[in-house]
Amino acid sequence: MLDDKKLCIIGSGYMAEAIIKGLVSKNLLPAENIFVVNPLDEEKVLKLKDLYGIIPREKEAGIIDADIIIIAFKPQDVAEAMAMYNPFFRKDHLLISILAGISTDLLQKLADSPLAIVRTMPNLALGIGESATAYCLGKYANEKHAQTVEKIFSTTGSIIRVQEKDMDIVTGLSGSGPAYIYYLLEALIEGGCKEGLSEEKAMELAKQTLIGAAKLLQESGAHPKELRRKITSAKGTTEAAINKMDSYQFTKIVQEGVSAATRRSKQLGKIFEENAIHVVNM
Ligand SMILES: NC(=O)c1ccc[n+]([C@@H]2O[C@H](COP(=O)([O-])OP(=O)(O)OC[C@H]3O[C@@H](n4cnc5c(N)ncnc54)[C@H](OP(=O)(O)O)[C@@H]3O)[C@@H](O)[C@H]2O)c1
Repeated sequence: MLDDKKLCIIGSGYMAEAIIKGLVSKNLLPAENIFVVNPLDEEKVLKLKDLYGIIPREKEAGIIDADIIIIAFKPQDVAEAMAMYNPFFRKDHLLISILAGISTDLLQKLADSPLAIVRTMPNLALGIGESATAYCLGKYANEKHAQTVEKIFSTTGSIIRVQEKDMDIVTGLSGSGPAYIYYLLEALIEGGCKEGLSEEKAMELAKQTLIGAAKLLQESGAHPKELRRKITSAKGTTEAAINKMDSYQFTKIVQEGVSAATRRSKQLGKIFEENAIHVVNM
């Protein structure tokens, strides 16, 4: 439990709902301690109230009455939104951001006073409580804040701490990662179809293969290389496939994908930062 802390989520989209679902279903916070603020979409906030029992609040009251604030709007809205909520932030608030590409330095620049800021990077599986989340601390955040963030995000999957300079790599690996896995699955399905299976059957086999392999990885605790070697007997079918994939530099292709996403994350971060500073200076 997070004692009797009160938490205010700003934004009411996919990720906000996923966080609420995690907190309520794992009993980390009672629903009446969770406030949701979104003056732009009150209907969605009311829907969250009906679904989870959270409390819709006006922006001022929601923030003032909270100990912890999670910002869950889009990165491109950061300058306008921070200007809107800044007057209500306090020094003793913990501000948790899930905004992709927005640094703790930029959030601090957009805030009027020093704030304990923690930046997180979850992924799409937050919605089913299986996100791989990473976080880093802003300059005014401490170990107590880190513990709180770990408690919150362990209700939605796993969480690890990294340095802020590594957040773009996190984005390139686990942030975009689910899409790479789906892409691999698409290729597996196409492979089965090319050899003569119907798409429906290839899809069913590929999907369950992914689920089974993921569960095996989790339950065994083994390194993926170890599991792969276990099912790769000399001169067998798996070895034939791996050798063929290696001849097309499978590992390099995936590594290059992660690097391209990491570079793009850096570029987008710069663009968001320039736009936000531009909005502030207007
Ligand atoms: N989806 C992912 O896989 C993923 C992964 C990692 C990180 N993230 C980050 O998570 C954040 C939320 O993503 P999402 O997928 O949940 O997006 P989303 O579904 O579009 O939700 C964004 C929410 O913010 C609201 N909003 C916009 N301006 C606001 C304001 N000034 N005050 C209060 N609420 C405001 C939006 O309301 P309206 O709909 O009325 O505009 C909407 O409810 C983003 O910053 C994204 O970078 C997402």
